[in-house]
Amino acid sequence: MDRIRIVGGRRLEGTIPISGAKNATLPLMIASLLTEDTLILDNVPRLADVVLLQRILGNHGVDVMVSGKRAGETADHGQTLHISAARIVDTTAPYELVSRMRASFWVLAPLVARMGQARVSMPGGCAIGTRPVDLLIMAIERLGARIEIDGGYVVATAPKGLRGGEICFPKITVGGTHTALMAAALADGSTVIENAAREPEIVDVADCLNKMGARISGAGTSRIIIEGVARLGGARHSVLPDRIETGTYAMAVAMAGGDILLQHARPELLQAALDVLGGTGVSVTATNAGIRVARNGGDLRPVEVATAPFPAFPTDLQAQLMALMTRAHGTSHIVETVFENRFMHVQELARLGARIQLDGERATIEGVERLKGAQVMATDLRASVSLVIAALAAEGETIVNRVYHLDRGFERLEEKLGRCGAAIERLTG
Ligand code: EPU
Repeated sequence: MDRIRIVGGRRLEGTIPISGAKNATLPLMIASLLTEDTLILDNVPRLADVVLLQRILGNHGVDVMVSGKRAGETADHGQTLHISAARIVDTTAPYELVSRMRASFWVLAPLVARMGQARVSMPGGCAIGTRPVDLLIMAIERLGARIEIDGGYVVATAPKGLRGGEICFPKITVGGTHTALMAAALADGSTVIENAAREPEIVDVADCLNKMGARISGAGTSRIIIEGVARLGGARHSVLPDRIETGTYAMAVAMAGGDILLQHARPELLQAALDVLGGTGVSVTATNAGIRVARNGGDLRPVEVATAPFPAFPTDLQAQLMALMTRAHGTSHIVETVFENRFMHVQELARLGARIQLDGERATIEGVERLKGAQVMATDLRASVSLVIAALAAEGETIVNRVYHLDRGFERLEEKLGRCGAAIERLTG
């Protein structure tokens, strides 16, 4: 199993290219199930989750072709996928596949919308909390599907197709909103989604669906209106830049010190996080090429932050911010309001010398003078990368175990940081 070795104390200087967003790529790939025609996606990141989803879609009969390298292209350019669901041969998504990646549960909506039936395994528990799918099921039911739970599977049927309806989410859910959008796109009549998630990835998926012929308005607000159409066609769409990768590297520079251009990053995708970073004393500047983040000496100021759905501070950056605050001058508080148990990084950060106390959903982080390298591991992607950030400022050597979590969501992490001066290497085997 691969590990990452980091020796702390190096400043970061240079440019980090930001990849396409994982959390837009996954639903965009799933949206290919809605049409017989080919969906072409550009700027797709090279991630383990993307490869796994290719396999999951392949099981439904979807062909995914990856374009070869073009003249002048380097590994910093995203991939282009040609995805064709011309013939869906199987409407079952089995437990072995869905349990490995929760987002694959989202195939439920396009399968039932286009095929009138779907049988998708319930995803089960997850390292960051219970993460139920009740609201996703509710959304499909509201559009006329019959739902049964059978042997751990959600069986959705709508032999005469879905019909438009009103979906009001009692809680904001990204997956619920993706599900509602995809199901409503092919439903008969109009659908209104109230209390929709406003995440940029929702807007990206809605934009792509509209290119495919859907009639969606209001994406990016809490009220989305969809006029259903009888069929969707092919389209070409470029995945938006990854705001979580952007925020992660911004915090890495804040931790290590230095001056980095986050190339292709778009500040409006993570303004709340950039504001928090600015409040710690780090310099954040938007440029035509991306976002420049610099810290040249000076103490980091502590913060008071609560995670919440977009446009507030994202839960997917909570662990990284906590790592950063372990070295702040003073005491910070971070409240996690999105997931009930997303604090697995706390015990691992403690191994590096961090002082963090948990009280329910609230963490109190007392900044320390120094962190010291150690062996660590984490059980989810964002927790793992928070350990990398802490290691950049820790004295001596840190070994981050279970690197496959990082490979799920960060493209060539060690290369991107290493090119900017970090002492970081992958130990294989
Ligand atoms: N929820 C329910 N019932 C549901 C669905 C969600 O109670 O049917 C709850 C969840 O338990 C949670 C809250 O609603 O407390 C929000 O969950 P949401 O549905 O928004 O999360 P998700 O769609 O499963 C996506 C991202 C996550 C990200 C969250 C929140 C993808 C593939 N995943 O998950 O990303 O944390 O939105 O922004 O887009 C990650 O990339 O590391 C990651 C976990």
